[in-house]
Amino acid sequence: MLVLGIETTCDETAAAVVERQDDGSGKILSNIVRSQTDEHARFGGVVPEIAARAHVDLLDGIIGMAMKQAGVGFAELSGIAAAAGPGLIGGVIVGLTPAKAIAMVHDTPLIAVNHLEAHALTPRLTCALAFPYCLFLASGGHTQIVAVIGVGNYVRLGTTVDDAMGEAFDKVAKMLGLPYPGGPEVERPAIGGARALGAAGGVAANQAIRGALQDVAAKAQTTLIIPPPALCTDNGAMIAWAGAERMALGLTDTMDAPPRAPWLLDANATAPKGYAKTRAGF
Ligand code: KG4
Ligand code: ZN
Repeated sequence: MLVLGIETTCDETAAAVVERQDDGSGKILSNIVRSQTDEHARFGGVVPEIAARAHVDLLDGIIGMAMKQAGVGFAELSGIAAAAGPGLIGGVIVGLTPAKAIAMVHDTPLIAVNHLEAHALTPRLTCALAFPYCLFLASGGHTQIVAVIGVGNYVRLGTTVDDAMGEAFDKVAKMLGLPYPGGPEVERPAIGGARALGAAGGVAANQAIRGALQDVAAKAQTTLIIPPPALCTDNGAMIAWAGAERMALGLTDTMDAPPRAPWLLDANATAPKGYAKTRAGF
């Protein structure tokens, strides 16, 4: 299936076309990213109104470039995916609205993608990482360790203001059906070479952090899967890929899909009985 992905949640205006094969493998046909760094630099941070206006100015051209580079027409697309949050609400609206328009005009399914889910699924696009895996997700607004159980099924194990490391281990163990205390139980199969560790989000583009995570993985004799830096920072390919993964399971959205400023990643998690889901909003 061919999916167009649109990303406008923060200060990157991005669009991409990704192809997903029936065997679950993916291929990026185009990936156009225009960073708005210059527009925001003199303010020392992202100004939401400026970002939304820049998305309005840039998005049509970026979508056109992504379609042209992929060599496909709108009628050939199997789905249109847009990041529907979490993010700056103005930018999210600017991206979601044309996605709905294209979907409506071409009678093509819409997929309203959670931006964090797109980061979380990117290692499956770049390295065909199989479920379940443990993900270190570090972006502009979120630092968390997530158990990626399946598409739409995420358990947030800890964030920087949430669980202690040991508690995160205990939760991982519980999810995997291992006894308490979880630390040694989780370490044992990891040392045997099971459980990949994934990383995603803009901060995972950092070479020092990539190196440190490599060391951790090597010590635990497990595999570290990190997408290339350009696919760690915000991009349209991750949105298109998350859209394709959801679509493959029949998870499409209707025209009333709302733009969401906050949007919990783990809202639909099916954690084992007795596991208390983390609910501190993003
Ligand atoms: O995932 P991302 O592109 O956007 C959000 O979803 O927030 O992450 C952006 C964050 C920014 O805070 C940026 O400073 C950080 O990722 N970042 C980096 C690097 N590249 C981007 N942090 C450290 N080293 C990098 N090379
Ligand atoms: Zn991001």
